[in-house]
Order: sequence, then C-alpha cells, then structure tokens
Amino acid sequence: MAAPYGSVQRDDFLESEDVFKKEFKRYKAKDPAPKLDEVIDFGTPQDRKVIPVEINPKNITDQESLARLGLLHPSQWRVFGLEGFLGFLFILNPWRRGCQKYWVTRCLRDYPCKPNVTNLDKLQHGVDNVWKEGYAEYRNYRLQEGKKTQPKTLLHKLRWTTLGYHYDWDKKEYHQERCTEFPTDLSQLSTHVAQILGFPHYKAESAIVNYYGLDSQLGGHVDHQELDHSKPIISFSFGQTAVFLLGGKTKSVKPTAMFLRNGDIMVMSGDTRLAYHGVPKILKPPIAGLLPEGLCEGDKEGVLHQSMLPSAVDKSWEESALFMEECRINITVRQVVADGKGFGKRSCDDELQTESKRTKEAQGS
Ligand code: OGA
Ligand code: MN
Repeated sequence: MAAPYGSVQRDDFLESEDVFKKEFKRYKAKDPAPKLDEVIDFGTPQDRKVIPVEINPKNITDQESLARLGLLHPSQWRVFGLEGFLGFLFILNPWRRGCQKYWVTRCLRDYPCKPNVTNLDKLQHGVDNVWKEGYAEYRNYRLQEGKKTQPKTLLHKLRWTTLGYHYDWDKKEYHQERCTEFPTDLSQLSTHVAQILGFPHYKAESAIVNYYGLDSQLGGHVDHQELDHSKPIISFSFGQTAVFLLGGKTKSVKPTAMFLRNGDIMVMSGDTRLAYHGVPKILKPPIAGLLPEGLCEGDKEGVLHQSMLPSAVDKSWEESALFMEECRINITVRQVVADGKGFGKRSCDDELQTESKRTKEAQGS
C-alpha cells in the first residue's frame, strides 16, 4: 500500500499540528469535564452536517433473517451520513427492543473464550473462560460497601478479544495461519448490515471486541492493516455511551465528535475507511448503575427469534447487567482479504496499533 499517512510520521511533524491529539485530550479531561455541546447526537440530529440517507429497497434482505438477528425491518432504520466524511454511515440503534442483550451476552460469555485470543493471554496463568473464572470475584468487588480498597479483578482486566484472523499486535499484521472460526451469528449480522447498506458479498473475517470501563479510552489510530480497504469496517456499540472522534487522513485534521450509544451501528468505508479515529471518553450514566435503554430488566418486548435466545440470556441477564452498568462494548468487524485474492503480506507502519499502546490507552493512562 502507498503510505498516505507518511506525512504524520515525518520527523518534522510538530506536536502542535496534531489537532487530533489536542481534541482527544480536551474530551478526555476530567477536571473540568469537557463541554459536550459540539458532540453530534444522531438521536436528535440538529447539526447541519448530518445527512439523512435512504436505504435502497433492493438491498433489503429477508425479514426473517433480520428478525432472527434481532434487527428491525430496514424501512424503520434511521440512517445518516456526515458532510465531509464520504463513506461514513450511521444507523441509529436499529435493534428490536431488548435484542442488544443477546450480543452483549455473546461478547461477555462466549467470544472471550478459547480458542479466541484476548489481552489476558499475556498473563502468566492461562484464562480459558474469563466470565466463568472471574465473575464471582467481580461481583464481590462490585457489591462491596464503601470505598474499594482491593485491586481490580480479572474481569476488569479484560480489554479486548479478537475473532477470526487474530491481529498480531507485535508484528502489526494479520497472518493466514493465526485464524480461528469466525462466529456464525456475528458473520451473518455483518453480512446483512453490509448488504443493506450497499456492500454486497461482504465477508466478516476478523473482529476486535473492545471492553471499556468508565475510565477507558482508545487512542487515535487508523485501521489499515487489512488487505482490502474497499470493504467497510462495521462497528457495533453496546452498553454505556462513548464520545467517538472521527478525523481525517492525517492527525492535522480536526476530528468531529459524536455519541455512540447502546445499539448504534457505524460504518467506515470509502474515504472514511482510512480516517483517524479514537474514543477519548466513556460517559458515566446520569445515575450510577443506570443501564441504557434496551439493556434494562424490562426490555423483553421485542423477544428474539427462538433460535437466537439461548436460555442463558434470560437467566443470567442480571449478571451481565451488573457488568454493563460500568462497561461499553464495541465490536469492529473487518474483511481482511480481498475478494478472489490470496493472503499477501502487508508491511505496516502504524505504530499506534501496538497492543501495549492500545491496552495502555484503554486503561486510561
Ligand atoms: C477499533 C475501534 C472504536 C470504538 O477497535 O479499532 O476503532 O468505538 N473501536 O470502540
Ligand atoms: Mn479502529
């Protein structure tokens, strides 16, 4: 790949030109907390940069499969673009009521299990199933009265898990042989969303699931390690609200801030596929312990199709709910390999995409 970001790596690139970082710091700040009045809210889109987008009815896939995945019929979706960001698409929470719980449950209980890869693999003792091994300790920690004096628990330390082709944070690339089976449900979900938005033949081959605590961030970066940039990145947000920054091809472009809330889906394709982005802030719920709409106990009305409702979702929701009071989950799905092409090597110069950098940022340092 040509190196469109060469400019940001130049030795003479001045800190002062790093407008992305400046904005990131501004939103990350705690005291004083940043004003959020410039943050785009697609739920009440008053910003003139927000452009409503019509879905081409020809792209709509069968209703039965969409309902099975927990999605509303696309005629009910509210889809937006953003002026100045070609290829950016935002779908405002298109889920049937309560169906986000299924995906949250998958992200907490199933996706971080072996053989998938997580940041906890670096610990000395192996962790095969972090939820099973860590929930009791986590619960005790959370239910403790008064000021917490103990160190955080194993489950607090879960930062990311990777699915399909596992990104190698050290070598900064994907490898043909470092791949496990991509979950069928997430693959179907991504293919349907892609198709509806006008990206037929999308192959979900890799995903990073990020787990954010209320103090976590994700530093500014570009996802350019995939071999085919003509395919979108599809991002699914669940749990607490994030402030997301979307910039340009270099860090000298001032990023636009937007809220990503429980259930929102965001797509980065075209020009925006290679834009700098990051998460400087997770918003604390207005009342401690308040869950976002769709994840509350009573949110059962739009029950999932039988096949998507493992009894586990219902019985154990209380456990997941406790965790989600202080968590945001984001899944970014990627197609790694170009259609009809083999797995080639890509040299990669993006120093921001190292594991330690990501984990450090995510821990809020
Ligand atoms: C990523 C990413 C954004 C988010 O995982 O590469 O950019 O909203 N995530 O968490
Ligand atoms: Mn990213």
